[in-house]
Amino acid sequence: MSFKPANNIQDLQYFGEFGGVNPSISDSSTYTFLSAKTMFDTFEGNADGCYLYSRHTSPSNLYLGEALAAMEGTETANVAASGMGAITPVLLQLCEAGDHIVSSRTIYGGTYAFLKNFAPRLNIETSFVDITKLDVVEAAITENTKVLYCESVSNPLLEVADIEGLSAIAKRHGLKLVVDNTFSPLSISPVILGADIVIHSLTKFINGSSDTVGGVVCGTQEFIDDLRNVNEGASMLLGSTMDSFRSASILKNLRTLHIRIKQHSTNAQYLAEKFEAIGLKTVYPGLPSHPSHSLFKEMMNEQYGFGGMLTIDVGSLDKANALMELMQHENLGYLAVSLGFYKTLFSAPGSSTSSEIPLEEQEAMGLSDGLIRFSIGLDADIERTFRMMRRCMNKLNILQEDLETV
Ligand SMILES: Cc1ncc(COP(=O)(O)O)c(C=O)c1O
Repeated sequence: MSFKPANNIQDLQYFGEFGGVNPSISDSSTYTFLSAKTMFDTFEGNADGCYLYSRHTSPSNLYLGEALAAMEGTETANVAASGMGAITPVLLQLCEAGDHIVSSRTIYGGTYAFLKNFAPRLNIETSFVDITKLDVVEAAITENTKVLYCESVSNPLLEVADIEGLSAIAKRHGLKLVVDNTFSPLSISPVILGADIVIHSLTKFINGSSDTVGGVVCGTQEFIDDLRNVNEGASMLLGSTMDSFRSASILKNLRTLHIRIKQHSTNAQYLAEKFEAIGLKTVYPGLPSHPSHSLFKEMMNEQYGFGGMLTIDVGSLDKANALMELMQHENLGYLAVSLGFYKTLFSAPGSSTSSEIPLEEQEAMGLSDGLIRFSIGLDADIERTFRMMRRCMNKLNILQEDLETV
């Protein structure tokens, strides 16, 4: 594949107001007009390059949006105050009362809770399906279906969506394919593979410093204009607006994303291979044992690897909790939700980020009690990290036998 997302970011050239190498931060909520007519035209959406009010858009938010659109290969993008602040307006823009969504059943717990508990209050219903089975996905489509929703690599089970296959189904049935690409920025480019809209929680790898929440919707100019429409746009009217200072800081972090993703992926690949070799049930798309390993390989922009997320199953929640506490004590990372930090983060999704999903549904989708989700950090010496992690596992009798030779 010839798409080069990091080059697209590198090639952007912004000059600050006084020739600064960083664009100036727009520190205003409202903007003046020299003529009343231009103000009217701006409200109508007919005055390019004019700013009205920062809930609608601001220069700093546009800079970040443009950079993310370049990364995803879309016409444009709209940034939001959080990942959920990007996801919910997209779904509410595309669906109205009586409409139906077909969604992957393994998605971030907050998205699941929105679709399962909140959207039905607006008479928008969702069927949750195994996204890896294209025949099951297609069979769930009804005459009211408007959206096919998935994560390119799912939270927390790391199922991989066949974006080209899903796109063909979406096109056949006139649906919009919406893909949350939070787990695999740069590695996977969903729009290039046929998705209509790509969403990210910027909170994670893209910002990479765990100091803010943020989100983005990447899509066509027409769809982003719809989201921002002053009369009917869900982003404009629900008001999940990113602050310009945060846009500016996320844009600066975005420039090193390609270096960070390579390091996250290299470290995760190393640990996944070692964990599997010492007998741990390990899920990582970069392992040949992953059911969608070859699918990921076909879809990926190769140099970025298989991402920084992996899971292991240590058998029970008690063992998972003990291991996470010990690893934190040994300074191997933090017992924390979220992902994409320079330190490794670990959590047991069943009792944290996916706790919105009822227990019986967790079981049905294979989300077991003893599952630990790792967001692997940027560790300079991953071999040392592995040795220390294995010591923690040995101490807690998590390994069947101590295979010191591995
Ligand atoms: C895959 C995925 N999508 C969306 C979100 C929501 O993003 P935010 O917390 O920035 O609202 C998360 C958060 O964990 C996530 O993991």
